Amino acid sequence: MPAFSNLLSPTKLGSVALRNRVVMASLTRDRSIPTNVPNRLNLEYYEQRAKGGAGLIMTEGTLISQQGTEWQNAPGIWSSEHVAGWKKITDAVHVHGAKIFCQLWHVGRVAHPKASEQIKSGLPVYAPSAISARGGTFRFLPGKPGYVTPTEVPDPNILIEQYRQAAINAKQAGFDGVELHSANGYLVNQFLDKNSNRRTDKWGGSYINRCRFGLEALKAIIEVWSADKVGIKINPTGGYNDVGMSLDDTLETFSHYIKEVDDMGLAYISLVRYTPKMDAEYDGKKRGTKHDVLESYSPLIKRAAIILNADLTPDEAEKLISEGKICAAMFGMPWIGNPDLVERLRRGKPLNQDLDFHTLYGGGLPKNEEVMKKGYTDYPFATEGV
Ligand code: PHB
Repeated sequence: MPAFSNLLSPTKLGSVALRNRVVMASLTRDRSIPTNVPNRLNLEYYEQRAKGGAGLIMTEGTLISQQGTEWQNAPGIWSSEHVAGWKKITDAVHVHGAKIFCQLWHVGRVAHPKASEQIKSGLPVYAPSAISARGGTFRFLPGKPGYVTPTEVPDPNILIEQYRQAAINAKQAGFDGVELHSANGYLVNQFLDKNSNRRTDKWGGSYINRCRFGLEALKAIIEVWSADKVGIKINPTGGYNDVGMSLDDTLETFSHYIKEVDDMGLAYISLVRYTPKMDAEYDGKKRGTKHDVLESYSPLIKRAAIILNADLTPDEAEKLISEGKICAAMFGMPWIGNPDLVERLRRGKPLNQDLDFHTLYGGGLPKNEEVMKKGYTDYPFATEGV
């Protein structure tokens, strides 16, 4: 049997047919210079990875509205300029036979009111409650400002409408589907977590109420796309961006959430498992809640395909797929240094492990195309012309 015969076999996520089960995870690369419109360098990066055999590419976190994020040059999907930029990318990806989903991202309380995009938006930093996250840096603001106390959003439907509009825009941009980013301490996760959500209305309090925001956002997205082209990313283990609950609260909240999400008939649920990398330390203590996400939640998933995310190796992914435990595997870091990851796996070529961490997010100033290419589009293909 050839190596990786399961991982490299075709599948379907909902109604989206994939040529293999290797998914490129969303990776913040912060290179949509000069502001946040996808540019030709972004195009080259995604095109390389489509050419390198990806089954499905997840875009990096793509902002659904003008927000003051720590990542000044993260792309958006709120304007017609963004749609035009992404359309060129989705077209190029399709030429090479890959599929591409747009990851819909709102950072909520970890935006900053003094970031230029937040100022331009004319809106406060909205979050479920006026509770700040500990930690965080804003590399482009003077001093070392961490996160600030956000404004409690008066009516969360304001934000749900932003998801709806972003979903409409993603459709115009030619994506094959969209993913709701519901993990890693960003907006949806802030509603789920009882420490960041202290609301006393129908959007907070009980675990059922805390799940409402994510479920309503999904409903809005599904009205635009059908459910079989929509996925969700969920990280029950918390840690990052100062979220995380006791194991009992975690299991109660996420079991309900995952059951309700699954009932909607989504194409897939991407479960992020515990990884020390994403578990921040506060006051000398790790914040996350370690538990086995596959064991805890996959019995609740009856309809959606399961994708596993975080620190997977191709060997482990192959095994989990062959055992029927997951449908597909997300790889993040391996895609950075191996634009032709799938072709390397197919042809038994070694993976490039030599990553330049300095250039992960662009490598500092000056931010021009020459600088931005380094560690982005200049990692070698091992399989060219083979
Ligand atoms: C990050 O940019 O640090 C980041 C973005 C999205 C995630 C996790 C981390 O889901």
